[in-house]
Amino acid sequence: MDKRYIRIFDTTLRDGEQSPGATMTKAEKLLIAESLARLGADVIEAGFPAASPGDLAAVQAIASTIGTSTTGSPSGIAPIICGLARAKKSDIDAAWKGVQTATRPRIHTFLATSDIHLEYKLRMTRAEVLTQVSEMVAYAASLCPDVEFSPEDAGRSEPAFLYQVLAAAIRAGATTLNIPDTVGYTTPDEFGALIAGIIANTEGLDDSIIVSVHCHNDLGLATANSLAGVMNGARQIEVAMNGIGERAGNTSLEEVVMALHTRAPFYGKTTGIDSRQIMRTSKLVSSCTGMMVQPNKAIVGANAFAHEAGIHQDGMLKHEETYEIMRPETVGVSESQLVLGKHSGRHAVQARLATLGYSISDEDLSKTFERFKSLADKKKNLTDADLEALVTDELRQSSQLWSLADLQVSSGTTDMPTATVRLTDPNGTIHLQAAVGSGPVDAIYKAIDQIMGQHGKLLEFTVQSVTGGIDALGEVTVRVESLQSSDSFLNPQSGADAKRTYIGHGTATDIVVAGAHAYIAAINKLIIAEKREDAANDQAVAHGGSKKQGA
Ligand code: KIV
Ligand code: ZN
Repeated sequence: MDKRYIRIFDTTLRDGEQSPGATMTKAEKLLIAESLARLGADVIEAGFPAASPGDLAAVQAIASTIGTSTTGSPSGIAPIICGLARAKKSDIDAAWKGVQTATRPRIHTFLATSDIHLEYKLRMTRAEVLTQVSEMVAYAASLCPDVEFSPEDAGRSEPAFLYQVLAAAIRAGATTLNIPDTVGYTTPDEFGALIAGIIANTEGLDDSIIVSVHCHNDLGLATANSLAGVMNGARQIEVAMNGIGERAGNTSLEEVVMALHTRAPFYGKTTGIDSRQIMRTSKLVSSCTGMMVQPNKAIVGANAFAHEAGIHQDGMLKHEETYEIMRPETVGVSESQLVLGKHSGRHAVQARLATLGYSISDEDLSKTFERFKSLADKKKNLTDADLEALVTDELRQSSQLWSLADLQVSSGTTDMPTATVRLTDPNGTIHLQAAVGSGPVDAIYKAIDQIMGQHGKLLEFTVQSVTGGIDALGEVTVRVESLQSSDSFLNPQSGADAKRTYIGHGTATDIVVAGAHAYIAAINKLIIAEKREDAANDQAVAHGGSKKQGA
């Protein structure tokens, strides 16, 4: 076992999806999982199967497709597909049901170890925690050969107790011990010392056991803490693309990977990540979750490789290394290539998509090709970025409940903005509605609400262009708040005032049309989530639990 090799465990689809508003559909999760596999993530945490039937279905779909395929994987082996489970039998059963078809399945189970969690959340003694860890890790190991255990809130747990719990997990069959700084409380020196202490003092912890780190970014220290963990013997880092996740998020995949790559002589470590895939994966995650990347974000921000000051530009012209520690191409930032034009045929589009890593059904290809042709009529220069925006939009829409069939809008300075909208419902029936509003978007959204029923309130509407120029594709992102309060058994803080938000995207050369697609996508997600939540609560009640026995 090469001790210099650092495993990248990606939790974008699990901890990342716990970011407020970042709920993703199954189709979006599959797209991201495929991209993570191409990026070379060693482990993909695909979800929390006990959370709801929808989460279970998404994990199963990822396990049986991405988890059995070596296509596109830089290492030539399928990634490990992992499902999260609380340390209880029903969760572990659900996780196993989710991942068992993968070539390399993993169950990740956790139980808190800090006194604060024991006293107020779990109401358990330390002795009870030790027993439950032994029993539940052994149960998971009886189902799955690869078991990861996490002592939740390890960063605030007493080290001596942590060593006992981890030793019990090893005896019960855990092969990866993941150390979470759940609330992002520790500092690099402290966290590094915690990892060193665990490695030195945990009984049974030999080289066959992988020590992993899972840091949250509440103090902006997640990357530094993860790297301090690696310096002290950790061999797996848990990350999320763009650093998304609970509250201030998780360690950013792109930051730790590029720190290890750029400072390879300093760290003396390697990863299996093909860094050239970072930018496209970042964009995909941002577009599926609606979590915009701040312009000055390290590695993937729009300004990460931009040089503004005259002195810097002068230096760059003389020698790139004056102000640049990484080449933009290393992370997949390059001038968008001119690839196809209006005379390109279906085969050329399919071939280009294959080069970009998309293998799509004939039906999706036909729809993408149709949209490509109409875009090519309006836009002279078509790039990879345009094609990717079209195909991801099409793949996302193909899994929608409701879709836009047709739209006509009139607006201007004198007349009342009016929209006529035709929507196709999940059974294929067309519904027609007209409405007036304070602006064209308001009129469209009112007509959509009248057809689909009003489920949400619009909180945010943003427009970005995919590429430059007046004929660029516009990408609209909307954030919609549910009118129904959230009362999920996985969300104990929920209740009368807890309203979830949902994000939708739409892409078109006409931003008003893109806005309609985005709103329908958000309402579709909201309807799916409401159904998921109802099913999860029914399931919790059926298993004799109360609705609010949260993790
Ligand atoms: O932050 C955390 O403690 C977690 C665990 C479930 C690993 O996400
Ligand atoms: Zn976490």
